[in-house]
Amino acid sequence: MSFIVAIDGTAGSGKGTVTKLIAQKLGLVNVDTGAMYRCVALKAVKNKIDSTEIEKIEEMLKDIKIEIKREGENQIIFLDGENVSEQIRTPEIDGCVAKFAALPCVRNKVTPLQRKMGDTQNIIMEGRDIGTTVFPDANVKIYLDASMEERANRRYKQNKEKGIEISYEEVLESIKQRHKSETQRKISPLVQAEDAIYIDSSNMTIDEVVNKIIDIIKKKSRNDKKRQENETDLLCPNCLKGGIILKEFFKKIGRGIVIGAIYAYCKVVYQMKIVGKENIPKEGPVIICGNHRSFLDPPLIEVTCGRYTRFLAKEELTKNPLLAVLGIIFDAILVKRDSKEVTAIKESLKTLKNGDCLALFPEGTRNGLEKGEQVKDGAAFFAVRSGAKVIPCGIKGGKKGDWKVTITYGKPLDYSKYKGAKDKETLDKVTKEIMENIISLTK
Ligand code: DC
Repeated sequence: MSFIVAIDGTAGSGKGTVTKLIAQKLGLVNVDTGAMYRCVALKAVKNKIDSTEIEKIEEMLKDIKIEIKREGENQIIFLDGENVSEQIRTPEIDGCVAKFAALPCVRNKVTPLQRKMGDTQNIIMEGRDIGTTVFPDANVKIYLDASMEERANRRYKQNKEKGIEISYEEVLESIKQRHKSETQRKISPLVQAEDAIYIDSSNMTIDEVVNKIIDIIKKKSRNDKKRQENETDLLCPNCLKGGIILKEFFKKIGRGIVIGAIYAYCKVVYQMKIVGKENIPKEGPVIICGNHRSFLDPPLIEVTCGRYTRFLAKEELTKNPLLAVLGIIFDAILVKRDSKEVTAIKESLKTLKNGDCLALFPEGTRNGLEKGEQVKDGAAFFAVRSGAKVIPCGIKGGKKGDWKVTITYGKPLDYSKYKGAKDKETLDKVTKEIMENIISLTK
């Protein structure tokens, strides 16, 4: 798991300089998230798009490419392949970036990119909402502040060094405006996270701030390590192993009992009929894709497919105590809305790699097709990525007037010829074929 340091704070509080120095001293990867919003603003300015023209901005964001590369000790910012490190720091961009950064469509595009950077590397990320929205579980959270006058003073000096002619009063006014819009905007406003450490840098030198934060990081890292060791030390290695075996044993028994109970219930109450079970390979990775009508669908697949199967479920499932227990028993893979989807993807691919079954519902939500919702490409993605066969599954009945439940498994669909493909066209084609097969089994 990566170690994440979140540095949030006001413009001109010294975040950028301090973050860069700490990254160098501790060997962390430094990410300046403000630069990403500046890239969006720059692209809009270049295309003469105003921050009120949402449709045009959405269109522009579709193929925007923002990269942060390191050259020695410096970060180079690339926008659509062009080095824009200088262009994003002009007074023009200073003046309009806050308006773009306040747009939901912009944040929805940029936030996942930021989270991705923390997946595989230890990072120090500076911005406004890192500790509150991007990484609410960051190991260390700092909120850096300074008086408005001191911040204006610093920006004024920075501009002067760069040869940018702008008066102190104008800088102060711009800082005040930005502060207002950043703290008062609806989406991801600049606020101190509850568990962030507040540092006022007005009367501190850069070195003092850097050393203070490094002390905090080192202390936290030591404590985290100690806690991990203590947790493991509480149990001797054999106890630990015994504990895990016992837990797995009870889970297996629990699973067996629950499967038996649901199976019997469905047989008696819904006169459940299973068709085409022989189509499910007895071993090896398989993706079972069904239509989604009710909360009963995942358990129906679990109890009828005859294989150890993990299914993908939305995190909201855990709000219902009964479904939460079923989720634990069936080892559900929870998909958190908007955040950390990557964990669910990795867990699903691991399930297939282990040669197990993965069940999912491309409709996304219950009766998604009827509601006209966009079918998700997830099943296609897993099939193409893993090479596992897809078993379409049609579930019928269980409703007033149509009480008897029939669950039909179709012939395996093989997409191994597309293995490794990532393009949307292929994924859409595979998704369409899977859905057509599912629908034909529900008729
Ligand atoms: O830190 P900066 O001045 O380069 O930030 C540029 C703009 O982006 C500024 O208006 C604040 C905004 N921003 C944000 O809304 N969220 C972040 N995580 C980082 C910056």
